[in-house]
Amino acid sequence: MSKITAAITAVHGYAPDYVLTNEELSQMVETNDEWITTRTGIKERRILKGEGLGSSDLAVPAVNELLRKRGIGAEEIDMIIFCTTTPDMPFPATANLFAHKIGAVNAWGFDLQAACSGFVFGLATGAQFIETGKHKKVLVVGADKMSSIVDYQDRATCIIFGDGCGAALLEPNYEGLGVVDSILKSDGAGIPFLHMKAGGSVKPASHETIDAREHYAYQEGKTVFKFAVTNMANVAAEIMERNNLQGDDIAWLVPHQANKRIIDATASRMNIGEDKVIVNIERYGNTTNATIPLCLWEWEDKFKKGDNIIMAAFGGGFTWGSLYLKWAY
Ligand code: UT7
Repeated sequence: MSKITAAITAVHGYAPDYVLTNEELSQMVETNDEWITTRTGIKERRILKGEGLGSSDLAVPAVNELLRKRGIGAEEIDMIIFCTTTPDMPFPATANLFAHKIGAVNAWGFDLQAACSGFVFGLATGAQFIETGKHKKVLVVGADKMSSIVDYQDRATCIIFGDGCGAALLEPNYEGLGVVDSILKSDGAGIPFLHMKAGGSVKPASHETIDAREHYAYQEGKTVFKFAVTNMANVAAEIMERNNLQGDDIAWLVPHQANKRIIDATASRMNIGEDKVIVNIERYGNTTNATIPLCLWEWEDKFKKGDNIIMAAFGGGFTWGSLYLKWAY
């Protein structure tokens, strides 16, 4: 029997209705459209409004539509990897809450926390369960309600983040299509530059932590930018080299959407033309775990069977990685 590979067989995404424009942000903090556009490439982002809604609620419409497109029921899913930095609650896992919401009664799952690299880590992890033959349908979800941890008084962070979700279904493939290779990295030395100061077991929530605004994402943007540019480009170049790929062999680069300047640096290092680089940052900003699957969803119609696709991401932790896959449909 031929080797089993893990192919993406369906993708879908969801972005909430509310559009937070640069114009509206410039009424909230000291900033302007020109600064945000030239420094990041972002024009607007989506925000999930309404009481009692979390990351799992972004995932429900995305996955329901994915299942409809694939023509299967939720009960057929074996496993859910829910990649998020903004879980519905500290415990239990959002994967559980979400499985219950969509009726995935036969699935087990867990949350994967790798900040902006989460979806790449999740695809690489899910692929292993398909490759062993143990599972037939693994759902990898990337969802974040970043607006729940963004400080809208901090102009250096509030301008980049937005809310959204994207999901991909992995199934066995016998033609060599799907995930070919991945390189995943992490380095805890990056913690001081991007983290949330309170709310964990080290510093539980208290009046003091709330007064000090420590339940928001803290980022030293310049340092993160420097590491992101170098590491995302390096890991993308490394996966090309070890798979003997030149720029011309790549059909699409799907980069994490944190800053247009980081995307441009990665594409240039890979020697890939602009027309092959997927960018939607101007409409969604940085949706953390959702950036890459939102891109897959929006470009799905342009992909062709056999296309070589490289994903690359960098995020808090630090975490970073790249993944090489052959599109399967
Ligand atoms: O998702 C994965 C991890 N995250 C990232 O990859 C994000 C990486 N970092 C970045 O994208 C950029 O660092 C930011 C977009 C966050 C910030 O851009 P920057 O070019 O690094 O700006 P900066 O923080 O170095 O600030 C430069 C100047 C400062 O003014 P002075 O000190 O030069 O007078 C800031 O106070 O720009 C000022 N500034 C702003 N001005 C207008 C910072 N934020 C704003 C703002 N509007 N929103």
